[in-house]
Amino acid sequence: MSKKSYILVTGGAGYIGSHTVVELIRQGRTPIIVDDFRNADRKIIAGIESIVGTKVIVHEIDACNQAEMELIFQQYPFDGIIHFAAYKAVAESVAEPIKYYSNNINSLLVCLTLAEKYAVKHFLFSSSCTVYGDPKDSVIVDEKTPMQTANSPYGTTKQMCEQILSDVVRSSAHLKVLKLRYFNPVGADESGKIGELPNGEPSNLLPYVTQTALGILEQLTVYGNDYNTPDGTCIRDYIHVTDLASAHVKGLEWCETQSAKTDEIINIGAGNGTSVLEIIHTFENISGKRLNWKYGERRVGDVEQIYADVQKARRQLQWSATRTMEDAVRDAWNWEQKWRNETTGN
Ligand code: WQD
Repeated sequence: MSKKSYILVTGGAGYIGSHTVVELIRQGRTPIIVDDFRNADRKIIAGIESIVGTKVIVHEIDACNQAEMELIFQQYPFDGIIHFAAYKAVAESVAEPIKYYSNNINSLLVCLTLAEKYAVKHFLFSSSCTVYGDPKDSVIVDEKTPMQTANSPYGTTKQMCEQILSDVVRSSAHLKVLKLRYFNPVGADESGKIGELPNGEPSNLLPYVTQTALGILEQLTVYGNDYNTPDGTCIRDYIHVTDLASAHVKGLEWCETQSAKTDEIINIGAGNGTSVLEIIHTFENISGKRLNWKYGERRVGDVEQIYADVQKARRQLQWSATRTMEDAVRDAWNWEQKWRNETTGN
């Protein structure tokens, strides 16, 4: 790419953000990371640079701080924005809804205000399958599946942000928005140099598995085995984070082909379902370790099963997941071991 294509990546030091920055650089873009590291480790920047072999530009800014964010928009002629910066822990959002509404909504409003002011046309939004709530008619959801009431304030912020984006596109002269509804991101870059870093005790399944395997956590609890599924445990669509990252590169390219204003929604998942027990058994087979786990009560808010119809992503973005759930478990385990060795020095 001859002319530099600057892409603002808010939350670019985070789990999905960092993997997307790697893919953007590989595609010849110049990502500008904005992150205040409230939910990311600075070592991830070194990990990105080690993977891509070049320095990355990072501005340590709160994405809700409009004055500081405006200085960035004045410095770079952005071709696009990928907005990741948001809180994303479902249980925490139930305990602290104001924190979630304030941060997740205001960071979007700041980015949209400045995108309009500085005529940035392409806007990718990090949405989530959680906007579907508990699907009533089919466990395989496509983009036309009606939203149900979200199971948490986190999910509601994603629904609200999608509505805000639609309203702004309607009033904008040029905005082209693509909302990517992620299913369950898992795994890590195959290098083991970047990966998921849950803040405190993980709420998501795979990091809980890998930390239990390393003895950081005592025991994994499987939340419920009386669901109406083949093995009684919940089913999800686990998508490798590197596949998810490449979907953003494709999404940006797609936005750039749109001649008029755009307000598009695309599911980003593997397009298949895996149960909790299948994840556990896959981990034990790959790692050769017996996992310490037990059955427990169902977790409030859990959906029995949901996974993505991914035809639209395939058709419109020419994208589909290429990595398997096994790849994701292997890469997550590789990352966990490397990270712990480096940070604890053993
Ligand atoms: C998966 C399955 C649990 C932990 C949420 C958000 C989604 C996305 C991913 C941000 C469920 C079971 C889990 C454990 C368990 N968020 N589980 N024991 O809830 O499907 O999705 O996180 O990007 O938007 O909604 O993910 O990994 O928490 O749970 O049995 O210790 O694993 O009950 O069935 P979830 P999860």
